Amino acid sequence: MKKNLVLILIAGCMLCTTINAQVNNSYDARISQLLKQMTLEDKIGQMTQVTLAVFAKGGWANTDGSLDPALLKTAIQKYHVGSMLNTTAHALDVQTWQRIIKEIQDETKNTALKIPVLYGLDAIHGQTYTLNSTLFPHNLAMAATRNPALVKAAAKITAAELRASGVRWNFAPVLDLGRQPLWSRFPETYGEDVYIGKTMGVAAVKGYEEDGLTNVTAVASCMKHYLGYSASRTGKDRTPIYMPEIEMREYYLPQFRAAVKAGSSSIMINSSDINGTPVHASKYLLTDLLRKELGFEGLIVTDWEDIIRLHSIHKIAATPREAVVLAINAGIDMSMVPGDYSFFDLLKEAVAKKEVPMSRIDDAVKRILKLKFKVGLFDNAYAEEKATANFGKAEYQTVALDAAHEAITLVKNNNNILPLSKDKKVLVIGPTSQSIAALNGSWSYTWQGNQEEWYPKDSKTIADAITDKIGAANVMAIGGKGFDNKANYDIEKLNANAANADVIVLCLGENAYAESPGNIRDLALPEEQVNLAKAAFATGKKVVLLMIEGRPRFITNIEPGCEAIVLPFWGGRKTAEATADVLFGDYNPNGKMPFSYPKSMGEMVMYDYRGTETKREIFNADVLWNGYDPLFAFGAGLSYTTFLYSNLQLSTTALKGDQKLTVSVTVTNTGKVDGKHSVELYTKDMYASIVPNNKRLRAFDKISLKAGESKTVKFIIDKNDLAFVNAQLKTVTEPGDFEIMIGDQLTKFTWNN
Ligand code: BGC
Repeated sequence: MKKNLVLILIAGCMLCTTINAQVNNSYDARISQLLKQMTLEDKIGQMTQVTLAVFAKGGWANTDGSLDPALLKTAIQKYHVGSMLNTTAHALDVQTWQRIIKEIQDETKNTALKIPVLYGLDAIHGQTYTLNSTLFPHNLAMAATRNPALVKAAAKITAAELRASGVRWNFAPVLDLGRQPLWSRFPETYGEDVYIGKTMGVAAVKGYEEDGLTNVTAVASCMKHYLGYSASRTGKDRTPIYMPEIEMREYYLPQFRAAVKAGSSSIMINSSDINGTPVHASKYLLTDLLRKELGFEGLIVTDWEDIIRLHSIHKIAATPREAVVLAINAGIDMSMVPGDYSFFDLLKEAVAKKEVPMSRIDDAVKRILKLKFKVGLFDNAYAEEKATANFGKAEYQTVALDAAHEAITLVKNNNNILPLSKDKKVLVIGPTSQSIAALNGSWSYTWQGNQEEWYPKDSKTIADAITDKIGAANVMAIGGKGFDNKANYDIEKLNANAANADVIVLCLGENAYAESPGNIRDLALPEEQVNLAKAAFATGKKVVLLMIEGRPRFITNIEPGCEAIVLPFWGGRKTAEATADVLFGDYNPNGKMPFSYPKSMGEMVMYDYRGTETKREIFNADVLWNGYDPLFAFGAGLSYTTFLYSNLQLSTTALKGDQKLTVSVTVTNTGKVDGKHSVELYTKDMYASIVPNNKRLRAFDKISLKAGESKTVKFIIDKNDLAFVNAQLKTVTEPGDFEIMIGDQLTKFTWNN
């Protein structure tokens, strides 16, 4: 029986491969045919991507998505533009997007070859630019859920809502690693750990693409920002990275390697430079590493204006044309120009002067056309009728709520002050208590996400959700709508109301920001927030702190005054409801820290530090190993119940070659309430030719346990999970001793080849 099934499966797989090969071949034949018919202008036009403001009436000021027919004609007829992106002032409704796409594709029908336009949008945590779309937690919060199934579910909904809007290309997922907390795009990352980054990144790519790109529930994904973007030395956006290749390969490359393998269709490039070479001009990174070593065959697109910036900002190209030559020869296929047609003219000149070979142009155009075929644009370039019905389904809100719930991370809970009972009198204060933008962060109906008028009308603030939960009679909410409203810092009112309160819910953190506007010089909390916290402590009432933020703002100076601390991060549309559920015990928190929350502002030691990072030499051989001292460690996260680990077992303690190691552990819910819990497996290489990490996360599994229930969790790992990049830049596993740690359980084994 089983054998037959295997045979059927093998035959099925062979059939799949054959079908895929046929599909690809049929594209290839049509692409070759098209290429023969295309002029140089047609080809260069395909490589050109412009922003909506270029052909919208009124440019950037446009608010209704109305297009200027003459400007659209110029884009399509004169410059043969192959791709467009972005919105103008803010998000638009589904019908407007469908109309925009129709007008664009209609215009392409008036060209000789009728090549459809590929439109791309930044649906980073849900479909950012369609009004009333479902916004999910940002990646950082998604990493706290330790639940790749949720990441995938959110990506599928995002794809459906994007496609309903007529758009088939998503500039996501962000695969940058979050190891520089100052960085304004830290919230877009899956945090500091490589394994979580890989796992969540792959889940997102599958969520976007696995239904098949011709299906109305899928969109092409775009891994970004290749490579090392998040590691700027200054912490400011788009500033230089200095990184030895060994570090790049150990920490920053694996997520891209995994996402390429998972089948992501495109990739966007890091705007900055690494060791002085802008990535957009690096043949090594774009062609040798990405194409040849990683085997990536999809489309390589630049980030915003990044070719001209080789001349205007990076100053490695003496002229704008040289910038184009460097980037295209390095391996760029499409230029997000995106504000004019300079790229088109410059590339045409460069080809005429034989500075860029036609073979490179043809190679780029083939990849662009291939993606257009893959997403079905040649069959129907308009918003598909079947896709429209997939916008805004009621069940999407449930996924958004599940994700917001699972992201919430409880990091302090003195004497189990939480959950609060619903008859407590609660005083709610602070800038994030009355803000909707602060709960959603960047890429939320506008680029910066800070214009509340564009959010869905039923969006709730923390104060609203607490009031809904325990009734207006039990809530004193001080302040007014919006983060910057001075009323949110009213210490006099705080003092006047505190006497009648049992507990103060102090809501601090950050307002929404994206990219360079979100640059900060240090992690300090603004003084007015610190003063508010001190005033809250001075009332003598118990304080529960909610830190609603995209990156870890410094709270070491106020932490001791707080009885409980809850981190909802930027949790999307349902942050407020989910937080109120946690505060009052309707949901048992289970988020785990996706990064190490710094205790000192200058400290940037991650959980996987190399041993020597934490040493302090006192005198001769007298060494203290106490350098990993975060306020909240990576992996921390409390629950309203307790979990006990026991019986850690290995299938062997002498692992050989490619053998699999089965690791099992029993987890028991020893408390009184049901709960979810992420069981995390770490390994430690005891001695290695490169200073080994203290430990590395190799696997996790999120389980649900009823009060009193036990489960045995199994993990299977092998030598690849023990590997590291050595001095020769090879990924190797070296024979020797290893430790395995799950919870407080620890055991040892050896690996030999
Ligand atoms: C960002 C990208 C984004 C692009 C298009 C750039 O400024 O760095 O992440 O995809 O804009 O909006």
